[in-house]
This record gives sequence, structure tokens and C-alpha cells, in this order.
Amino acid sequence: MFDTSSFIEEAAQKMKDEIDEIAIIACSGGVDSTVAAVIANQAIGGKLHCVYVDTGLMRKNETKEIQEMLAAHGLNLTTVFAEERYFQALADVTEPEHKRKVIGELFIRIFEEEQAKVGAKYLVQGTIAPDWIESGGGVRDTIKSHHNVGGLPEDMTLEIVEPLRDLYKDEVRDLARTLKIRVADRQPFPGPGLAVRCLGPLTLERVHVVREACAIVEEEFEKAAEEGKMEIPWQYFAALLPVRSVGVHGDVRAYGETVVVRAVQSLDGMSARYSEIPHEILAKISTRITNTVKGAVNRVVYDITHKPPGTIEWE
Ligand code: XMP
Repeated sequence: MFDTSSFIEEAAQKMKDEIDEIAIIACSGGVDSTVAAVIANQAIGGKLHCVYVDTGLMRKNETKEIQEMLAAHGLNLTTVFAEERYFQALADVTEPEHKRKVIGELFIRIFEEEQAKVGAKYLVQGTIAPDWIESGGGVRDTIKSHHNVGGLPEDMTLEIVEPLRDLYKDEVRDLARTLKIRVADRQPFPGPGLAVRCLGPLTLERVHVVREACAIVEEEFEKAAEEGKMEIPWQYFAALLPVRSVGVHGDVRAYGETVVVRAVQSLDGMSARYSEIPHEILAKISTRITNTVKGAVNRVVYDITHKPPGTIEWE
């Protein structure tokens, strides 16, 4: 059994010994960075600056929820609203690896600006084992450049502190439960956010569509699981595909795009099986999505691909 209390105590002590000046951490609101930030806060308190970048690629209501959660843990948080910068940088970018690179680089630029403001010497990161393994950390070829690993500039002068580096996701969730972090059981969300769920051109309108679709999938699955109609999958979301098909909207011919619903069972995200979902729930999701984003989407499909050969996200 993984002894969470001892791990937290030892990790905090190690950081206390190691970090003698200002440290900065990028908080995404995900379980990994939140756990790293809460432990670092226990260790070095006032020396820790947390930065959350609202990229405009977050889920519905996410920024407010993240701010409230981090405030509840007493973290010293700066929120940078950067939606405009992200959409500008991503205009005309559709190739998945290029997209991740642009997002990662802009993130680093914004982060460096914040670092300069506080004069940080250390960078605390919530990197966990699968992040560096999948980013080609010498073990496997790069599958996708996960931006919390792949995007760091070579000339970076910050000293990196990674208290969760050897842990797997279930262990980090155990830590989060011990630390009473609200997102302990929240499903994973990719660093590049909704950008990797919006295939094709990244526009405010299309990201809005995928944001609404993801919210509907989350709501319906969570409600159905509460009512005992299905088991909650390990991860579940929607992606918008730049595939248009003919449909009818009212009495009028429509030519809208396609939303794919994805739900998988997995232990650590390294491999996954698609989840079998009762048709009545999928049907409700389909109706709600097409009604909510009227005209923009006229077809909803369900992805029945395991990983491998597919990855969990579509990009
Ligand atoms: P894939 O799509 O590669 O995803 O099968 C495996 C798990 O990782 C999440 N994911 C990411 N997480 N930064 C992250 O922190 C990323 O760039 C990233 N890309 C994918 C994905 O949601 C799944 O849980």
C-alpha cells in the first residue's frame, strides 16, 4: 500500500531543504499540478507563487472553479487571461503536433513573463511518470509531445523540482484524497485543453461548440452513473471534427459538422478500451448536442476504438 502521509511529509521536507528562494508553479487545476502545489505550499508557503493561465481552451466554468479550489487551499494565485493571445497564435494551425508546440511555446512565454515579475529561481512541476515516458523520455518514441514536458526551452535557467515524477496517476489521486483536494477523482484533461478536441481550424465559435458538447457528455454520463444506469468511464468527452454532412434543421437543409463522443476505461491512460454505453444515454447526448449548438453540428457519432490502435484523444 502506498503510504500517502509519509510521502507528503518526505516530499515537503525535501522541498523545504532544496528550495531556498522564490519558486513558481503552473497550476492547471488538474490533479497533478494541484497536488504538487499543495505539497509545495506546505513546504515553502510564502515563497511559492502559483500561476494559472486561462488559455480560452478550458472547459465550461473551469476557470472560476479552479480559482475557488486553489484559494480554498490557501495558495497564492495569479490568473493570466490569455484567450486572445492563444487564438491569435493558433489561427491557421491545424496539424496536431504543431498545435501542441504553439500552445506549449506560448505557455512558456507567458510563464516566463510571470516568472520575471516574481523573480523565481525554482520551477515546481506536477510531472508524473507517464508524462515523461510518453514524451519520449528515453523509454519510448514520442507519441504526442505532452506540453508539460516537451515545451521547456533549452536556455531555461529555472531549477526544476518534480516531487511526483516517479508516481502513477492512481498514486497521485490517493495523495489528493489525503490532501482533501476536490479534483481527486476528476477525469484527466489534456494540457493543451480543448484545442486537441477541436480538429480543424481553431476559432472561438468552434471551441465554443466543443466546450458545450464536452459539458453535455460530462453531465449526462455523471447523471446516468448516479442513477445506476452505467459505470462512470475513466475518461469521457466530445471532440469536434471538421467533417460536414448534410442534414435537416427545421425544414431547411443544413450542412453542419460532426461531434464524436469518446469514453474509455483505463488504468493509467497508457492503454484503454472503449466503454460500452447504453444507447438511451448516447441518444440523449446526441439530441442535446444538436439542439444546443443548432446548425453547427448535425451529426453525433460514438468512437469504438481501443488504445492501441487509437489514442484516447483524437489529436
Ligand atoms: P492519449 O490521447 O495520448 O492520452 O492516449 C493519454 C492521456 O493523456 C491525456 N493527454 C494529455 N495530458 N498533456 C497532458 O497533461 C497533454 O498534452 C496530453 N495529451 C493527452 C489524455 O487526455 C489521456 O488521459
